[in-house]
Amino acid sequence: MIKAAITALAGYLPNNIVTNFDLEKMIDTTDEWITSRTGIKQRHIENDPKKATSDMAVEAVNLLLKKRGITASEIDLLICGTVTPDMVFPSTSNLICAKIGATNAWGFDLSAACSGFIYSLATGSQFIETGRYKKVVIVGADMMSRIIDYSDRTTCVIFGDGCGAVLLEPTTEDVGIKDFILHADGNGVTHLHMKAGGSLNPASMDTVTNKMHYVYQEGQSVFKHAVYNMAEVSAKIMERNNLTAKDVTWLAAHQANKRIIDATASRMGLGAEKVMMNIERYGNTTSGTIPLLLWDYEKQLKKGDTLILSGFGGGFTWGAVYIKWAYDGASL
Ligand code: UT7
Repeated sequence: MIKAAITALAGYLPNNIVTNFDLEKMIDTTDEWITSRTGIKQRHIENDPKKATSDMAVEAVNLLLKKRGITASEIDLLICGTVTPDMVFPSTSNLICAKIGATNAWGFDLSAACSGFIYSLATGSQFIETGRYKKVVIVGADMMSRIIDYSDRTTCVIFGDGCGAVLLEPTTEDVGIKDFILHADGNGVTHLHMKAGGSLNPASMDTVTNKMHYVYQEGQSVFKHAVYNMAEVSAKIMERNNLTAKDVTWLAAHQANKRIIDATASRMGLGAEKVMMNIERYGNTTSGTIPLLLWDYEKQLKKGDTLILSGFGGGFTWGAVYIKWAYDGASL
């Protein structure tokens, strides 16, 4: 049976770093508050106004191709999970493909907020499993700084810019994407959304004056839903695959808040040594968090390792993916 395996990965973060101490000078906050409530110490923010989400993705995908030793023309499909597309249309996926020269690929953007990467990964895996395609690139990319109000202390301390990308290829070995569970509940819209810029509230003087083009989040409500759902879906994917905590090598959970990640690990019975964490350096990069975790931990990953990826985001959207890792990261 053909499975989809991640065979290469890469990431990209803009050079400019904004620390909690920098934010202390801009808004009424403290390093102590941000660190204790979220686990974040700094985030990368693109400060070149000419750069957009596709530019981060181009850096990550080009590095990915170089690592795997293949050309852009070999890519069949490129899916980009993002809520900060360069434009409403054409899709960021199309723009990335044009910029890297992926002339034989088609693609689309997938809007699932912080679950963008796991939704895209699950979707892309199906095109491999059917035997239709041999090389599918999954990008998780968000330039959150372009939709954040830097006078709103409840949101601006959390988010950062960043991007990760993985290559999916077919395998008949006992590795690759073994299972996934995805959920959505559109009733969550009230707690986390961007009010304007779509067909409901198209851009106008009023929408700009009323700051409707920024992320609106009711933090506590989102927190409660995230803790419950991310923990439950992670436990459920273990149960239905007969995995105990001992069997799981790594948890790669969406990096929104260290307290949410800790609660998920605890529900799964995992010790901190099995939990990938980089929120302190990057903050919440939305679709970027999970591939950036894999990128940071790649050298520690071994063929046959059991990984659980899990996420929760606006929508609400949430889910988990069970992977048997396909290569030794240390050999790269
Ligand atoms: O990634 C997609 C999904 N998003 C999430 O998963 C985010 C989930 N939510 C959270 O992570 C947390 O709710 C936040 C980090 C957003 C907020 O943390 P919290 O512990 O829930 O704080 P809170 O909203 O209950 O606010 C507590 C207090 C408030 O002051 P009062 O009303 O008690 O006087 C806030 O005004 O903290 C205040 N506050 C701040 N103080 C200093 C809110 N933001 C800040 C800040 N600095 N940056």
